[in-house]
Amino acid sequence: MTNENIVWHQQTVSKEQKQAQKGHRPALLWYTGLSGSGKSTIANAVEAELFRLGCHTYLLDGDNVRMGLNKDLSFSDADREENIRRIGEVAKLFVDAGVIVSSAFISPFEADRASARSRLNDGEFVEIFIDTPIEVCEARDPKGLYKKARAGEIPNFTGISSAFESPKKPEIHIHTQHHSIAQSVELIVSYLRSKQIIK
Ligand code: PPS
Repeated sequence: MTNENIVWHQQTVSKEQKQAQKGHRPALLWYTGLSGSGKSTIANAVEAELFRLGCHTYLLDGDNVRMGLNKDLSFSDADREENIRRIGEVAKLFVDAGVIVSSAFISPFEADRASARSRLNDGEFVEIFIDTPIEVCEARDPKGLYKKARAGEIPNFTGISSAFESPKKPEIHIHTQHHSIAQSVELIVSYLRSKQIIK
């Protein structure tokens, strides 16, 4: 819904000024992958390293956001779309504040991830595919959800009764079977250095 009586306000302190003060560029590290793929684990480890390096960071994490901001949303396709839309908007505010923000959500649909990307400037959106085969996620089953989904107790479960559209051209592709957590952190931090997001 649009409202013609709402007008965008230009802010006095610019994004560039915030960036200069922080000593790094803002970015949105968008982790995507199946439940149990390792998104949160890797996102937390990368955030810890960026924090150690003196960066201003924030992590928007799946279950936590669904307990607050998005607690009214289910796992239907339409609600997942709204989940990702809200997260994309919140993440954009953090990027405007000059922060390196990470989001760790399944975000199964290409169009929703593309929409989050389109809100940001070129180079600010870094899609990180945490690529773990479903058999491995299911064997790990840290929350026991695959077992419940197979028993028909969870409808629309990603990878079983709801689709996951793999990213076609993610900026970073992590194969968790071949990369340790430390190697994954190194890959991601090196990418950020190569793009001069951090020094
Ligand atoms: S989505 O698809 O991006 O809107 O999902 P997300 O907000 O990341 O939430 C995923 C976490 O919710 C739990 N959960 C489910 N996942 C997938 N499908 C269904 N039906 C479902 N029901 C609950 C699950 O713990 C997910 O957490 P992660 O960390 O991904 O394992």
